Amino acid sequence: MALDERPISATAPDRGGVTDVLQCRGLTKSFDDHKVVDDVGFHIARGETYGLLGPNGAGKTTTISMICGLLRRDGGTVSVVGHDLDSSTRAVQAAVGYVPQDLAIYPDLSAAENLRFFGRLQGMGGKRLAARTEEVLETIGLADRAGDRTEDFSGGMKRRLNIGIGLLHEPQLLILDEPTVGVDPQSRDSILASVEQLGAGGIGVLYTTHYMEEAERLCDRVGIIDHGRLVAEGTRRELVDLVGEQDHVRLGLEGGETGVAERLLALPEVMTAVPTDNVLDLGLTDSHRSLPAILAAADEAGARVLSVEVVEPDLEQVFLHLTGRALRD
Ligand SMILES: Nc1ncnc2c1ncn2[C@@H]1O[C@H](COP(=O)(O)OP(=O)(O)O)[C@@H](O)[C@H]1O
Ligand SMILES: [Mg+2]
Repeated sequence: MALDERPISATAPDRGGVTDVLQCRGLTKSFDDHKVVDDVGFHIARGETYGLLGPNGAGKTTTISMICGLLRRDGGTVSVVGHDLDSSTRAVQAAVGYVPQDLAIYPDLSAAENLRFFGRLQGMGGKRLAARTEEVLETIGLADRAGDRTEDFSGGMKRRLNIGIGLLHEPQLLILDEPTVGVDPQSRDSILASVEQLGAGGIGVLYTTHYMEEAERLCDRVGIIDHGRLVAEGTRRELVDLVGEQDHVRLGLEGGETGVAERLLALPEVMTAVPTDNVLDLGLTDSHRSLPAILAAADEAGARVLSVEVVEPDLEQVFLHLTGRALRD
């Protein structure tokens, strides 16, 4: 997986389609008069895992639905391994595996039977389907449970089987829509491990999530989407650099965080102050020197400071910096 060091840009540069599994440009969609995807463009290289990171309602599912051809676009172009979605729809479908957020597997059938069933629906059969069923079961870590009925599977196993169905026809681009939502932490880890293997196997992956930890762990590059717009794009390093030289301090508070935020913003060292449930995220010019003044001001504002944490810049900080809001729920 090659880390891409290209500069940050909100639109995909024209790279001639040689090494890209996906190029999309100018994707736009409105529902009624509300623009929910606004001029979104990016590209994904072979073997690259690209994350679309944004809060609920940002436009992630709408964007990938347009890329898959499941939703009509108002504008923009989509090209998959050099095939245009409109003029070569079948070639695009053959090259794309789409794993929707909702589970689509039969509880009465075993894991292997589910794969064979969905493989036949996609026009596969014979030796190829048998071989792919075996390979996919290995990839998703379910080989030892191949013959078991899926109704007894954990949430994570069902999700992995869902991913396996998307992989059967050997797509060059796999699109995963928030595959870990609603699963327990252990299952989540096994899903992430399966996705990590895919990138290593050379396939391009488009992964949507509102969890910055997942984007950091899985993705070579991340596009940050908010209110239907791609507000920044790059490697983790490039994105974190956007935050600049500020120090970040997270105060755990009891009561009055909004009042404290206002008061702290009046201090010259405080660049940003974003309150969310009992937590205040601060961007500071110099945390070492400004902490005493901050603690005193919090005290004067009537809040009890329960914890002080100096945070390393991460994608959460980048999101805060770019939008003034917290990414986490
Ligand atoms: N079929 C639809 N009709 C009207 N509004 C929709 C429809 N689908 C999505 N939306 C709206 O578009 C916005 C983006 O939704 P979505 O793409 O599902 O976001 P995400 O996947 O990032 O959570 C939301 O405000 C959502 O309510
Ligand atoms: Mg969604």
